[in-house]
Amino acid sequence: MTETVASPASVTHPAPQWPQDRGCPYHPPAAYPRPATGRPLTRVTLWDGSQVWFVSGHAEARALLADPRLSSDRHRPEFPVVMARFGDQRTVDLPLLGVDDPEHNRQRRMLIPRFGLKQIAAMRPRIQQIVDTLIDRMLAGGNRADLVPEFALPVPSMVICELLGVPYADHEFFESRSRVMLNADSLEEIRLAREDVKAYLQRLVDAKRAEPGEGLLDDLIAERLADGHLDREELVMLALILLVAGHETTANMISLGTFTLLQHPDQLAMLRAEPQLVPGAVEELLRYLSIADGMVRVATEDVEVGGETIRAGEGVLIGTSVINRDPAAYQDPDTLDLRRSARHHVAFGYGIHQCLGQNLARVELEIALATLFARIPTLRLAVAPDEVPAKPGGSIQGLFALPVTW
Ligand code: HEM
Repeated sequence: MTETVASPASVTHPAPQWPQDRGCPYHPPAAYPRPATGRPLTRVTLWDGSQVWFVSGHAEARALLADPRLSSDRHRPEFPVVMARFGDQRTVDLPLLGVDDPEHNRQRRMLIPRFGLKQIAAMRPRIQQIVDTLIDRMLAGGNRADLVPEFALPVPSMVICELLGVPYADHEFFESRSRVMLNADSLEEIRLAREDVKAYLQRLVDAKRAEPGEGLLDDLIAERLADGHLDREELVMLALILLVAGHETTANMISLGTFTLLQHPDQLAMLRAEPQLVPGAVEELLRYLSIADGMVRVATEDVEVGGETIRAGEGVLIGTSVINRDPAAYQDPDTLDLRRSARHHVAFGYGIHQCLGQNLARVELEIALATLFARIPTLRLAVAPDEVPAKPGGSIQGLFALPVTW
């Protein structure tokens, strides 16, 4: 299956467009290449007509995500701009996600202690309290709600605020700016939203230096800023990533996870009857929904994988949703099966950039979904499934609104 690969820009044979909207909010777009065709690496066409490699095979994706010859450094001139709205990516210093080792390791090591299994497990009672309070409020408000603003968004938003030491009172400000950063088309709008949040976090860091509080940002100021291991600009960008990644992703998983379970009543009934299935069910939902649908890299050397050669300088798109449906890794992959072992999915990525917040996200999802369905047993959609507005391809997948009743 080896063929000579021309540079992405000069490849002429048709390759599907990336990104595409999902036809159904929980299935990959029908036209994305699937590994079942026998080619775990193919190509897709981007907005500007250029092409990049598209990885759909599970084993190949994990091999590539663990390979130091693939870079996440958006400052590299060959790093693909996969959407027009990322056009200024070369001018932004994106910590963690946008840097390679050893720089990446230095940044990540500062944060790991706060995101370990034990530290996150200690947050369970508080997360349960937040979830219960929000459900109490919804129930007190009648028998109808939009689950996105009333539940799916505030749960992770309140939790990440407490973890970082960011005042939740400012949530409308940073949630609206995050929405623009992740979903808007206009480069200028995105830049302004980013600058707004940066300015806000700069003020917050300065206020905390004068008067320390409790939270990860306060710890970093005391332990790292003071001795020069970290400068203010880097701390602000780290805070920005944690704040945005910490609420938008999990919020989308809660809303889309709820929708998906409501669309699979047999699976939901089983989950209600056997609460011990909850952790495995969360894993299967992460696999099945693959909300972070596309990780981007550039090859710094030639890399042979899946019978193809990725040349130095070529862009690579890791197609999370189709990888997590690879029949070589999962039996009957298009079926939601809450009893299966969905381990080894790449919904949180793999390798050095594997999601820093995954322990937190899992606990939030377990508590939010289990409590929601236990406390509101008659929960159902308030509109037809095809009237539920889903997010477009290329952004974190999820729902703009989820009208429910009970
Ligand atoms: C269900 C929810 C979540 C999903 C599906 C998700 C998904 C991902 C994925 C796929 C990556 C790897 C990106 C890449 O390799 O290019 C990633 C990285 C990251 N995530 Fe998450 N994430 C979630 C929740 C969170 C939360 C709650 C936080 C909170 C702090 C967080 C913080 C991060 C950070 C900081 C990185 C960068 C890690 C690094 O580069 O070392 N994520 N996430």
